[in-house]
Amino acid sequence: MPRHTHEHEGAIEGRESDHYDTIARLFAKPFYSRMAREIAAFAPRDAAVLDAGTGPGILLRKLSRARPDLELTGIDIADDMIAHARHNLAGLATAPDLRAADVADLPFDDDRFDLVVSTFSTHHWDDPEAGAAEIARVLRSGGRLRIYDFRDAPFDAVLGQPGLTDIRTTPFRSVWSWFTKATRLDATAA
Ligand SMILES: C[S@@+](CC[C@H](N)C(=O)[O-])C[C@H]1O[C@@H](n2cnc3c(N)ncnc32)[C@H](O)[C@@H]1O
Repeated sequence: MPRHTHEHEGAIEGRESDHYDTIARLFAKPFYSRMAREIAAFAPRDAAVLDAGTGPGILLRKLSRARPDLELTGIDIADDMIAHARHNLAGLATAPDLRAADVADLPFDDDRFDLVVSTFSTHHWDDPEAGAAEIARVLRSGGRLRIYDFRDAPFDAVLGQPGLTDIRTTPFRSVWSWFTKATRLDATAA
């Protein structure tokens, strides 16, 4: 198995991934609940959903509980994060498909997903333009993209992607808004 780590600056691995997993599981639940609630409210029935840069998979766990009809997939460039996600998602009625992969080189066919989501990952991507192009490729026409990230994340990569239209950004006020000034981006695949 190739390791999707070392050569990538943005990967969170080793002890850093252990710390991230602990914080995400124990302290950030309301934060993920809020994003999962928002996504669950608009995801089409039985949608195929990809979480790009899923980290320890907490969003997927909450989505799976809120919307058992969804077919969930998560990718992360760090093998260590995928290992945490496998652990955190064990025992769900339907196990999400979890894979170590770079968002800039997704191991999926064209038009594979109805919805792609990504939370606080885009600012880690080595090549955000290639990531946005890959997301546009794997989304079916009319499929939706929802990104949450810090205000200074590379949203321009999405704005410059011809395969994505109807792009809107809105402020994301979370329980942590005093700490993170975040943005929510919505787009539709052409
Ligand atoms: C701050 S964490 C966010 C994780 C999760 N989405 C969350 O909200 O907790 C950023 C994640 O993006 C992953 N990542 C960085 N570059 C990536 C890339 N090119 N493709 C896929 N995942 C990437 C990192 O390994 C890390 O798990």
